[in-house]
Amino acid sequence: MTKILMVCLGNICRSPLAHGILDSKLDASLFYVDSAGTANYHVGNPPDPRSIAIANTYGIDISKQKSRQFTVKDFDTFDYIYAMDASNYEDIIRLSRHEEDRNKVQLILDLDCTLSNKNVPDPYYGGITGFENVYHLLEEVCVKLSQKLISK
Ligand code: 4NP
Repeated sequence: MTKILMVCLGNICRSPLAHGILDSKLDASLFYVDSAGTANYHVGNPPDPRSIAIANTYGIDISKQKSRQFTVKDFDTFDYIYAMDASNYEDIIRLSRHEEDRNKVQLILDLDCTLSNKNVPDPYYGGITGFENVYHLLEEVCVKLSQKLISK
């Protein structure tokens, strides 16, 4: 079983979408996908209603997810850890214990060499258009990521 963790700040906007989108492209008997936040602001809460709505538009149900905080134990559990932006990446790396931990962590948009901005923008303080944009960025990169994982 290959285990993949998506990480953002609050685990209510971006990483729940990345979690739901990637999960929809992989065989659940071979891959386990989860998400977490570097902060504890929203622990126990479902995803932001705007993330739930945009995922729903594309036939993905993320409404049952619950926010949780990233912990050092996640380095042991997961094979791949994808950060949504550079700030999330640095917060994860700060908790790493050794090279093996650090080698698991990557910015998710680094998987798309056509993009110059490697940060998935934080849509929390904006409108629904920001969530649309995040959805499409993540959909495109999750196509690439799923192909990479399946071909391994
Ligand atoms: P996320 O978005 O990191 O994509 O889940 C945010 C959610 C909540 C906050 C910031 C970003 N907040 O400050 O509460």
